[in-house]
Amino acid sequence: MPGAKISALGCYVPPGVLTNQDLERMVETSNEWILERTGIVERHIASKDIATSDMAVEAAKIALAQRGIDAREIEAVIVCTVTPDMLFPSTACLVQDRIGAKGAWGFDLIAACSGFVYGLTTAAHLVMAGTHKKVLVIGSDTMSRIIDYTDRGTCILFGDGAGAMLIEPTDVPGEGFIGFLNEIDGSGGDFLKQPAGGSRLPASAETVEQRLHFVKQDGQQVFKYAVRKMYEMSRDLLQKHGLSSKDVKVLIPHQANRRIITAAAERLGVSCDQVIINIDRYGNTTAGTIPLATRDAIEQGKLQKGDLVVFATVGAGFTAGVNLWRWAY
Ligand code: COA
Repeated sequence: MPGAKISALGCYVPPGVLTNQDLERMVETSNEWILERTGIVERHIASKDIATSDMAVEAAKIALAQRGIDAREIEAVIVCTVTPDMLFPSTACLVQDRIGAKGAWGFDLIAACSGFVYGLTTAAHLVMAGTHKKVLVIGSDTMSRIIDYTDRGTCILFGDGAGAMLIEPTDVPGEGFIGFLNEIDGSGGDFLKQPAGGSRLPASAETVEQRLHFVKQDGQQVFKYAVRKMYEMSRDLLQKHGLSSKDVKVLIPHQANRRIITAAAERLGVSCDQVIINIDRYGNTTAGTIPLATRDAIEQGKLQKGDLVVFATVGAGFTAGVNLWRWAY
C-alpha cells in the first residue's frame, strides 16, 4: 500500500480588506475589543463579482504550477466549502471545468471549518487505496456572503479566502499522511448554523426578513467546544501513534479565535513559536484557514521537509478533525 503525501500548495485571498476600524463604523464595536477578544486585525473580502469557485480556481492553478503538472493529470477534485457558488452544480464541477481537469471526478464536502481536514483525510485514503495518483483538495469560502453585517457577534470574525493542496502517492517510509481522528457531534448543531436556504426552511420573504440566511451562533458554546476538542483530539491522535507533543514541529490549527488557539496549544504543551497563527490578517476563512496557515508556516521557515505537523480543526455541526502528516517537501 503506498503512502500519501502533500506535494504542492496554492492559496488565494481577494484583494479587498475589511479592517476593525471599518467595522467600528458598521456596528457597535471597537478595534480594542476585537483585538483582545479574537486577535483579528483585518480580513479579506471578495468583491461582488467573485464567488467561491473563482477563489478556488486561483488557488488550484497556483498549486498545479508549483508542481509543474497539467490539470488533465488530476483524478479527483474535492472542494470543501459551506458557501458553494450554488447548491448544484457542485463547486467541484465548476472548478474542474475551469482548470481543465478533464479526467477528474469530484464533489463538494460540507463540514464547515473542519472541511479541509476532512478533505485531506478523504484524499489521503483515495491515494493510499492505490486507486488515485493525484487528488486536489481545495478549501474555499466566501463567508462574507452569509455574514450579517449588523450582528457584531459574528461579523467581526470571518473573512474570505481559499487554499489548495495536491495529494500524491509516496514510497518513502514515514513520509506524508500518518493518521487522523475525525468526529461529528450533531447535538451541537444549534450553536452554529445557517438556518434557512435548505429543504427545512427554503428561501421566502419571511426567511429573508428574519435574516435567517446568515450565520447564527452561540459564541461561548462554540468557544468551549473548540478549545476542548482541539486539545483532546490532538493529544489522542498523537498517543495513538506513540507520539507526544514533544515530537510535533508545528501545530497548524483552524483560525477561529486567537484565544481558542492559544488555550488549546497550551493544554497540549506546544510552545507559542510552534503554533501558526495568522488570524490577525485573515480572520476565520472557514475551509481556507488550514492551507493559508500552512503557506505562512512554510514561508516563515517553520515547516520543512521531514517535520511532524498537526492540523487541528473544529467547526459547525459540530465537526472536529485532526490529521498528522510528516511534511514531504
Ligand atoms: N464588540 C463589542 N462587544 C461585543 C462584540 C463586539 N464585536 N460582540 C459581543 N460583544 C459583547 C456582548 O454583547 C457581551 O456584552 P454583554 O456582556 O453586555 O452582554 C460581551 O461583549 C461579552 O460577550 P461574549 O459573547 O461573552 O464575548 P466572548 O468573549 O465570548 O467573545 C466571541 C465573543 C464570538 C468573539 C467568542 O465567543 C468566540 O470567538 N467564539 C467562537 C466563535 C467561533 O469561533 N465561531 C466559528 C467557529 S469555527
